[in-house]
Parts: sequence; C-alpha cells; structure tokens
Amino acid sequence: MNSIFTPYKIGNLELKNRIIFAPTSMDNDVERIIEKMDEIASGGCAMIIVGDVPVLPQRHMSLYSDEGFEMYRRICETIHSRGCLVSAQLHQSDTDMKFIMENIPKMKSGEITADDLRKMLNDRIGEYISSIPVEEVKNITSSFGKAALLCKKAGFDMIQIHGDRMCGSFSSTLFNTRKDEYGGSLENRAKFAIDSIKSVKKAVPDMPVEYKLSVRQENPDYGKAGITVDEISEFVPMLEDAGIDSFHVALANHSSLTDTIPPSTHKDFGMEGCFLKFADEVRKYTELPICGVGGLTDPVFIEKQISSERVQFVSMCRQLIADSMWPQKVKNGNTEDIKKCIRCNKKCLGGIQHHKGVGCIFD
Ligand SMILES: Cc1cc2nc3c(=O)[nH]c(=O)nc-3n(C[C@H](O)[C@H](O)[C@H](O)COP(=O)(O)O)c2cc1C
Repeated sequence: MNSIFTPYKIGNLELKNRIIFAPTSMDNDVERIIEKMDEIASGGCAMIIVGDVPVLPQRHMSLYSDEGFEMYRRICETIHSRGCLVSAQLHQSDTDMKFIMENIPKMKSGEITADDLRKMLNDRIGEYISSIPVEEVKNITSSFGKAALLCKKAGFDMIQIHGDRMCGSFSSTLFNTRKDEYGGSLENRAKFAIDSIKSVKKAVPDMPVEYKLSVRQENPDYGKAGITVDEISEFVPMLEDAGIDSFHVALANHSSLTDTIPPSTHKDFGMEGCFLKFADEVRKYTELPICGVGGLTDPVFIEKQISSERVQFVSMCRQLIADSMWPQKVKNGNTEDIKKCIRCNKKCLGGIQHHKGVGCIFD
C-alpha cells in the first residue's frame, strides 16, 4: 500500500498521506463532535474536512460568535494534536429561512408535518435563489472571504468551498432562472461560485482552496444542483482560473440523500468508488489534484486508484465513521481487522435524520 502513504501537496500544503475524512455534519453536541474528530484524527488520516461551516452569522454556532469560534478553534486544536490537518467546508444554505419561520406555527399546530415542510422548501429553492437581491448575493459571496479569515484565525489549514448548497443551486439550470449577471449562460451561473472563490483567495492568499464540485447526472437523472457532466469542460477551467487548488468530486445534491450517500443496494451507485466516473471527467480538463469520494472502503481498490493516478486523494465518510483506524490498520498490514463499512446508512445518515448524532452499527 505504498501509494496511499506517499505525501502529496494541495497548493503549498503537504498532506502526509492520501486519506481525507469527507465533510460530515455531525450533530449539535460540541463535546461529541470533538470526541469524534479526535478519534478520526488519531486513526491516521491526513486531513479532516469539517462539514457545512456557515459563511454568515447564525443563531447557533457560527464563526462569528465567541462560542462558535471557540468550538472551531477547539476542533482545529484537537485534530492538530493528532498530527492531522483540518479544512473548513464553507457553505451558504439554499434553504429559505424566512419561509421556515413563517411555516413553523403551521407545523406546531399540526397543519403540516416536518416532511411536508421539507418538501415545500425543496420545491421553492429555485424561486428562492432566483429572487435574492443582487446586493444580498454580493454580501454572501464576500462573506466567504470574511469566514475564511476567521477560519484561518481558528486554526484551519485549508478551505473547501461547498459547490452544492448555494454555489450549486446558482450553477444549476434546474434552479437558477435569474435574468441578471448571475443567471442564463454557464459563465453567469458560475459567477456566484467564482466570486466566492475570489473572495476567499483575497482574504487568505496563503491558504489552499478546494472546490467540492457537484456533478448532476442525466439519463438516468440524479441530483439537481451543480453542473451537468457536459458543463464540466467549461466550468472546471473557470474555477481553476479563479484560483482553485484542488477538486473534490461528488454527485450533486437535491434528489434524494440516498443518492449522494448511497447504500450498497443503490441501483446505480452501490459499487465501490461510485462517483469516480465524475472525477475521470474532471481530470480531462485540469492537472490539479483531484480527491475522489463515494463508496470507498477497500484498501486494494483504493491503492490502485492512487497508484494509477486516477485520483490523488480519496475521501471517506462512512468507512472512517465505521473504523477510524482504517489508515493505521492498512499501513500496518492489518487489513483483516478493519470493520468494513457495509453502507447500510442505518446509524450514520439515519442518526442525523433522527437527531441522534452520527453513529454506526459497529459502535
Ligand atoms: C452523516 C453524514 C453527514 C454528511 N454531511 C456532509 C456535509 O456536511 N457536507 C458534505 O459536503 N457532505 C456531507 N456528507 C456526504 C459525505 O461527505 C460523502 O460525500 C458521502 O457520504 C459519500 O461518501 P462515503 O461513501 O465515503 O460515505 C455527509 C454524509 C453523511 C453520512
């Protein structure tokens, strides 16, 4: 397993091996999050990406409040203490918060259920992001830079811009019906992402910046945000010109969560390395490092992807939740001891959906 454990750089940052913990929203319990981060960092991966770090101030835990900043600072300190690097996944939600607030009374009175509200919100993403005033859009994209600076102060080593959420819905023809400079041509639809990247680059010029590229598949259709496979050829060079240092490639959001986090029984994405075909498309248009994600669990398969330079890094979410010691076990040749993720989604995705935090059937 030599290739997996060869160091490699993203921008000016050297990662000790090719294993990255994929962005994973956990729960609201700070101590549980820090305990989990400590466990995963101790297992020997090179970097942890902290999922969904908001770019605007929030009511709960954002970089802008003392309490939120302290949580991120502690996460970085904990991860660093295990010799692991840490990246912040900056995101802006494309959920219309005002609409949620207006509908909470209806949910409380039983007029609608939480599932009804979720569906209503999904149905109005296009309308919402297409009607945000330009001044507000500019405030959001410039907040990517403000948040990146706070990330640097908190101790993060790298920034990942979440290419789903608002970057993704602005990029997508299925959601974006704007008639201004943010809508229409692919160049205009990419403007939100590009302005966000430039804002981060300006604020923290010495930090590497990665883009989580969300690819929408057609025939059969999966995902609604992001860009189609055909748009990769134009979109990737635009992001590279804006200053991106690496790509993390996955299926786009907003179909079903079980498409982006596919169980092993999934009709089209049940196999090992299920989204690597999208990484192959991205490779045609960039020489930058690419991180593959999706259904990666098997050491022999992963070694082959790295040694053949199909991807430079692999990101694992559920496998490192199932067994955070995966990197150490592989390095020491104890692969038979690995608790292999069976991608059942019962307590990882299921844990989040039932507000119990991220767990695993092996816990
Ligand atoms: C509980 C859970 C939370 C997740 N949270 C995020 C997130 O905050 N941001 C993100 O981009 N992806 C998130 N993902 C998706 C993962 O990063 C990853 O793309 C997906 O799980 C497929 O990789 P895997 O097969 O290694 O699990 C999450 C996945 C799970 C299971």
